[in-house]
Amino acid sequence: MRLDKYLAHAGYGTRREVKKLIRQKHVYVNDVLCCQDDQKIDENKDSIRVNDTVVSLQLHVYIMLHKPAGAITAVQDPFHDTVMDLINEQLPPGCFPVGRLDLDTEGLLLITNDGALAHKLLSPKKHVDKVYYVESRNPLEDGDIKRLCEGIEIDGGESCLPADVRRIAENRFLLTIREGKYHQVKRMMIALNNEVIYLKRVQMGSLRLDDSLKKGEYRYLYEEEIERLKNRKETT
Ligand code: URA
Repeated sequence: MRLDKYLAHAGYGTRREVKKLIRQKHVYVNDVLCCQDDQKIDENKDSIRVNDTVVSLQLHVYIMLHKPAGAITAVQDPFHDTVMDLINEQLPPGCFPVGRLDLDTEGLLLITNDGALAHKLLSPKKHVDKVYYVESRNPLEDGDIKRLCEGIEIDGGESCLPADVRRIAENRFLLTIREGKYHQVKRMMIALNNEVIYLKRVQMGSLRLDDSLKKGEYRYLYEEEIERLKNRKETT
């Protein structure tokens, strides 16, 4: 296999990015500095290193994090702790949070280096269910539920797809949405002259937040959870 292809597969970036990495003298093959991106390697025998890190063709990793409020959903941030800072072990390169939760939102966040699965879960065309536990400032009236279930119009004249609502108490409910518009749940509540006072994602597609995870804790997904996410039947 070509060295640049190998590094791209291992999550070190696009082909163009890894070529740059090689030309900038960061890559060693069997401990010899290599500057040729088209060098052929034997991925089963040769030892590849990027600076001090030995590279292996990593399998994908899938982590469920119970995001606490106050951690920003980003790989890096100059001002805040990120969700990645909560994972206190070395992850393979290329891991990122799937989708964005606001700074004050808690709950289920998937972290992976499987770009194809992330695309499947996030693509607006795939309509993957996201279930949120919501506490609102004012009670949610029957008319509000009807508007949410019919597809409410939010600011900017954007229409949301029909949502599902399961009321738990006057101002506590589970809301299922099938898109991921920016601040969507908060904007839906504003459209009802209401306000979100607490928001927690509890499910994404078939993946449910593990109740045993405290805020800030994480665990690797079980094989069957990964399979169910990957094998999701598409809806229109
Ligand atoms: N909708 C919001 O308004 N915020 C989130 O963090 C997620 C969905």
